[in-house]
Amino acid sequence: MHSVRIVIFFWLSGALKNINKVSSENNDSLPVKINIQKPANLSDEDYVKQTTDFWTDERLNAAIPVPIIEKNPLPTVENSTDTITFNKNERPTLVQGTLPASSIMSRRAGYPNTVGKVYFVDRSSLYSCSASVVTADNKDLIFTAGHCIYSTTNYAFVTNFIFIPQYHNNTRPYGTWVARSLYAISSWTSYLDLNYDVAIVLLYTSSGQHIQDIVGSQAVGFNYGHSATVYSFGYPINYANTEIMTYCTNTKYFPSYSNYTGDAVSCTMNQGCSGGPWFQSFTFSSLSGIQTSVNSFIRTATPNVMYGPYFGSTVLSLYNRAKVDSGTTSSAAPHYIFSGIYLLLFGLLQKFFQSLYLN
Ligand SMILES: *[C@@H]1O[C@H](CO)[C@@H](O)[C@H](O)[C@H]1NC(C)=O
Ligand SMILES: *[C@@H]1O[C@H](CO)[C@@H](O)[C@H](O)[C@H]1NC(C)=O
Ligand SMILES: *[C@@H]1O[C@H](CO)[C@@H](O)[C@H](O)[C@H]1NC(C)=O
Ligand SMILES: *[C@@H]1O[C@H](CO)[C@@H](O)[C@H](O)[C@H]1NC(C)=O
Ligand SMILES: *[C@@H]1O[C@H](CO)[C@@H](O)[C@H](O)[C@H]1NC(C)=O
Repeated sequence: MHSVRIVIFFWLSGALKNINKVSSENNDSLPVKINIQKPANLSDEDYVKQTTDFWTDERLNAAIPVPIIEKNPLPTVENSTDTITFNKNERPTLVQGTLPASSIMSRRAGYPNTVGKVYFVDRSSLYSCSASVVTADNKDLIFTAGHCIYSTTNYAFVTNFIFIPQYHNNTRPYGTWVARSLYAISSWTSYLDLNYDVAIVLLYTSSGQHIQDIVGSQAVGFNYGHSATVYSFGYPINYANTEIMTYCTNTKYFPSYSNYTGDAVSCTMNQGCSGGPWFQSFTFSSLSGIQTSVNSFIRTATPNVMYGPYFGSTVLSLYNRAKVDSGTTSSAAPHYIFSGIYLLLFGLLQKFFQSLYLN
C-alpha cells in the first residue's frame, strides 16, 4: 500500500507540473522568472557578499550606461492609423506607497530615496541603468526596464545585478543591494517586444532588513489613462556623466505608433536613465507619486522624446506574481500543500477501503 501511494503521488504531482509548464510556454504575455544563477555550493549569504565585493568603486566607474535602445518592431511613422485597440473595460488598480520606518536624511535631499542606480554584467561587460522601489508584500521589489535584466545583444539574463538607492557621485548612502530574482515578460525575452520592456527585480535583504523598510516604496498604478503630468527620474550620461540623479517632467501622451501600446513624454535624458520610474501625481514635498511606467527608449527621429511601456494587465500580473515571492521557501510551498492534500486524500481512501473490507 505504501509504495503504491508514493508512486501515485509522484505521478500526480508530475502531471500538475506539466500542466503549469505547457500553459505558460504557450502564452506570450506571462511572467518569466529566474533565480540568480549562483553555484549550488554557495550560500545566499556568501553570494551576496561575493557580489557586493565584486562591485568595487573602480568597477562602478567602469560601467557603461546602457544605451537607450531603438529596435523593431516599432515602425518609423508616428501617428500611424494601424494602431492597437485598448480594452476600455480594464479597471485602474492602485497600490499605495509606504514611508520608511525611520527617516534618514538622504544624500541628495529633495530627491526620492526609492530611486537608485543599478549595475549588472552582460557577458563580461559592466553596465548601469536606473530603478525604483515599489510597494510589495515581500518588501524587496524594484521596477526597471526589460533591457536592464535581459540582454538585447546576448539574448540572456544578466548577472551580478545590484541596486544602489540614492547613488550619488561614488557614494552609497543606503548601501548595496543584491538581486535574488529577475522577472521579465515572455514577449520581451522571446521577441524583445518593446511593449514589454519592463522588469521586476527582487532583492536580498541586507543585514536582515528589507529595502522597503529602509528607503520606503512608491505607489504603483495599472490601467491608468494615457495623459498625465509625469516626472521621470534616472541617472543619464548627459547629466554629470551618470554620477547624479536627475529628472524631467512633462505631460505624457499616446504616440500612436503601430502596434505600440506605450506612452511618450518630452525628455532629454539619455543613456543610463533606462529603467528609471515615471511617476504621476508626484510632488517634491512628499517625494512620492504613482509609478505608471519606466524609461524604455528614444528614437533617432525624435531624440527629445522618451518612450515607456504601458502598465496594463500584463504588467499587473507580473507584479502580482513577483510581490508575493519571498524567496526559495515560498516557491516550494505549493508542492508541500499538494503533498498534504494527496496524503490526506489517500489516507481517506485507505480508510474507506479498509472499512469496505472490514464490513
Ligand atoms: C495569455 O494570458 C492572458 C492573461 O492571463 C490571457 O488573457 C490570454 O488569453 C492568454 N493568451 C493565450 C494565447 O493563452
Ligand atoms: C564550489 O564549487 C566550485 C566548483 O564547482 C569550486 O571551485 C569551489 O571551490 C567550491 N566552493 C566551496 C566553498 O566549496
Ligand atoms: C502625433 O499626434 C500627437 C497627438 O495628436 C501630436 O502631438 C504629435 O505631434 C503627432 N506626431 C506627428 C509626427 O505628427
Ligand atoms: C564628485 O566628488 C568629487 C570629489 O569627491 C568632486 O570633485 C566632484 O566635483 C563631484 N562631482 C559632482 C558631479 O558633484
Ligand atoms: C502590427 O502587428 C500585426 C500583427 O502582429 C502585423 O501583422 C503588422 O504587420 C504590424 N504592423 C506594423 C506596422 O508593424
